[in-house]
Order: sequence, then C-alpha cells, then structure tokens
Amino acid sequence: MIQKIGFILNGEAVVWKGSPAARLLEVLRESFGNTGVKCGCLEGECGACAVILDGKLVNSCMVAMGRAADCEIITIEGFKKTKRFAALDRAFASAGAVQCGFCTPGMIMAAECLLRGNPHPNEEDIRVGISGNLCRCTGYNAIVRAIADAAEEGEGLW
Ligand code: FES
Ligand code: FES
Repeated sequence: MIQKIGFILNGEAVVWKGSPAARLLEVLRESFGNTGVKCGCLEGECGACAVILDGKLVNSCMVAMGRAADCEIITIEGFKKTKRFAALDRAFASAGAVQCGFCTPGMIMAAECLLRGNPHPNEEDIRVGISGNLCRCTGYNAIVRAIADAAEEGEGLW
C-alpha cells in the first residue's frame, strides 16, 4: 500500500510517498540524502542510525514510516547547523573521540538529547545517555570526556 506521508525534516515540511512499513532509516538516506544517518545493525542495537523524533532519541532503523507521519525529525545534517553541534564537534575533536567516525553522528545526536534534558551531566549520566550507542574503535572514555567538555565549554547553549 502506497501512502503520502508528511513530516518535518530538519525544519522543512516534506512529503514522502511509499509504504508505511518502510524503515525511516532507509527513507532518510535514500530519498532525502541524509547519509550521516548510518546503517549499522538494522536491529536497534548500535545507535548508528539515531535521530531525534519529536524531541526523543530513536533508532531510525526501528521506526516505520507510518509512525513518522506528522512528526518532527532532526538528523545530524540538520543539527550540524547549530552552535550546539559546533561545541560538540570541537570537543569530540580535541578529546580524540573520533577514529573511524562511523558511530559519531549517532553519538552526537545522543549527546544532544542528553544535554537538552540535563545540561550538567556527571560521568554516570553521560554513560547512561550514550548506552544505546556502540563504538568499536575509539573507546568510551574519550567520548564521555568529549561530552563533559562540550557541556562545560558550551555552558548556556543547552
Ligand atoms: S542501525 Fe539502527 S540501531 Fe543499529
Ligand atoms: S569511532 Fe569508529 S566506531 Fe566509533
């Protein structure tokens, strides 16, 4: 069954036509060119495909297009235009929190969600905030440090 599904993508109203059972991840990448949304496990386990849907972090591989109707979706492509992204980007680079970079967009979206809800997280809060995101190469200590640094240096942004 083909349907027209409208939603807000990175601040812009868009309409997509297709099956409501299609994966949001594939639609974002293939129909809208948001290739910063990475395709890892396709099972909701790695967080590489994380986006923010109506203010909540979701794994877009687990979201059917029917559920995206009328929602507001922010991907790394939209988030990278913000000062908060710039603060996280700087902190990830200076803490050495990026190696291959595959997990980084999802980590950044998780960090944004965490800091939105808690601008002054302690280490435990950060570890919980990124617990749905896997990194195979950098190691979590540098990522946790980067998010703590972004929170400190970006004081007032969240
Ligand atoms: S690709 Fe979606 S959680 Fe891994
Ligand atoms: S930097 Fe390679 S998976 Fe995280």
